[in-house]
Amino acid sequence: MSDDTLYSRLGGYDAIAGMVDDFFGRLMEDTLNSRFLVTLADDRKMRARQLTIDFICAAAGGPSLYIGRDMLAVHKGMGISAADWDASVDHFVATLDKFEVAETEKSEALAFYQGQKADIVEA
Ligand code: HEM
Repeated sequence: MSDDTLYSRLGGYDAIAGMVDDFFGRLMEDTLNSRFLVTLADDRKMRARQLTIDFICAAAGGPSLYIGRDMLAVHKGMGISAADWDASVDHFVATLDKFEVAETEKSEALAFYQGQKADIVEA
């Protein structure tokens, strides 16, 4: 792992885990997106949280192995709309801002996030 990975520049595992927790908190409070999450048992929320951390850490060049399902398989059938997606992007930006992520890393993280859209949005 080289030091200039996005993983390192974001601050490593603890920083990314903190960002995922903040982001999930924002989705839970958002009436548009919370409907996808409130019905999940706590255990399933914890599983999705852990796998999301692993997914991001692995994609950002960190020492993690993602053992979850691919983005298309896991979100297919949820009916996530473009409006749900746009709201989630706003929450993601709010999280990056709260953690004072610098512009370069912010645009790389946002590009990665937007790169998942085609597999996740279906309605
Ligand atoms: C509007 C946006 C999104 C919504 C509403 C959403 C919702 C969900 C829900 C409800 C689950 C739990 C599924 C289950 O337990 O069966 C889940 C799992 C997951 N999501 Fe998302 N998601 C969104 C965007 C994203 C994005 C952008 C990523 C990646 C950066 C992501 C990564 C994951 C991962 C890794 C899992 C767990 C995979 C697995 O169980 O194998 N999600 N998502």
